[in-house]
Amino acid sequence: MGILKDCIRSKDIKETPVWFMRQAGRYLPEFREIRSKNVDFIKLCLNPQLSKEITLQPLKRFSIDAAIIFSDILMIPYALGQKVEFEKNFGPKLGELNLDIILELSEEDIVTKLGPIYKLIEDTSKDEKVRQKDLIGFIGATWTLFVYMINKESPKNLNEDIYNFPNQEKLIRKIIDTQKLHIKKQVESGATIIQIFDSWAGLLDKNKKHKYIYEPTKEIVDYTKSLGVEVICFPRLIKSYKDFCDIVKPNVISIDYEVDPIKIAETIDIPIQGGMDPKCLLLEKNDMLKNAKKYLEIFKNHKYIFNLGHGMIPETNPDSVKILVDFVKEFK
Ligand code: CP3
Repeated sequence: MGILKDCIRSKDIKETPVWFMRQAGRYLPEFREIRSKNVDFIKLCLNPQLSKEITLQPLKRFSIDAAIIFSDILMIPYALGQKVEFEKNFGPKLGELNLDIILELSEEDIVTKLGPIYKLIEDTSKDEKVRQKDLIGFIGATWTLFVYMINKESPKNLNEDIYNFPNQEKLIRKIIDTQKLHIKKQVESGATIIQIFDSWAGLLDKNKKHKYIYEPTKEIVDYTKSLGVEVICFPRLIKSYKDFCDIVKPNVISIDYEVDPIKIAETIDIPIQGGMDPKCLLLEKNDMLKNAKKYLEIFKNHKYIFNLGHGMIPETNPDSVKILVDFVKEFK
């Protein structure tokens, strides 16, 4: 446990906690080297030794306060028997969805398939570099997984047919039960915080938010809290952050780069995470730090975890990340 949890629990801390979404990934040459020898991405996620090494890579370079496990939100569709592949420069491609097969899967089937992830967490949580920090486990939110499972690739716009998908209540229930199981196993294995990524929250019709976002996410947040672990929610581009927090009540809300941070600071009381546009890391040093300072100043009197408004982009120079982290750590 580290200062991330202390910040969330309102303990006195001397520095702003910092970590990054997608901190373990393609912008790091040491990740690309492992990846080039492991063409099957799912297999790499299910290799506890290599995925531990990738999880630790950013901690070896930067003074960040948390490790996030190297895995993917699409490990749940994979565990539910849907084929998941990653094509170069395209993103994920999912296979046929067979609801009959999905509904028959037992908890044991799912835990067996995801077993290597729990081994990764167990081993990583014992590592010297991680023991004093937080180890973040994660899931994709119900809505985002539903979109991937039906749309079978990252959506640009949403096909309205998705709302008419037959037997969707059964599919949604199975996704939620699997998410809870996956969270429970991650926590038992040593994850100290859970983040819920709702990457496609911004695509949903306004009047459908209760059914597809608020209700399932609240159920999962309540469940995670009942395990004694804090939950960070990232409903990307949702716009209605205040409503989201009032209804879902996460421990931390992670904000995207389009939302006005001043408005967030004025209206939301719970700890805030993130916000800065990942593209700022591509700017010249002083411009990057000016942007970082803006967020640090706005949230000066708030519980604030420094992070980005979405994942680190592949073109990011690791040297800029180091400069940024050191700046956040020295900011008073
Ligand atoms: O944050 C971390 O460093 C931990 C690992 C992590 C990955 N994916 C590894 C990964 C996490 C937390 C994720 C979450 C994830 N995966 C999300 C939610 C966050 C977001 O970005 O909105 C989503 C939507 C996915 C699905 C996914 N996985 C996509 C769309 C892609 C391809 C495009 C991309 O963003 O890289 C992936 C592949 C993926 N997941 C890579 C990594 C390091 C790249 C793999 C490669 O080709 O080398």
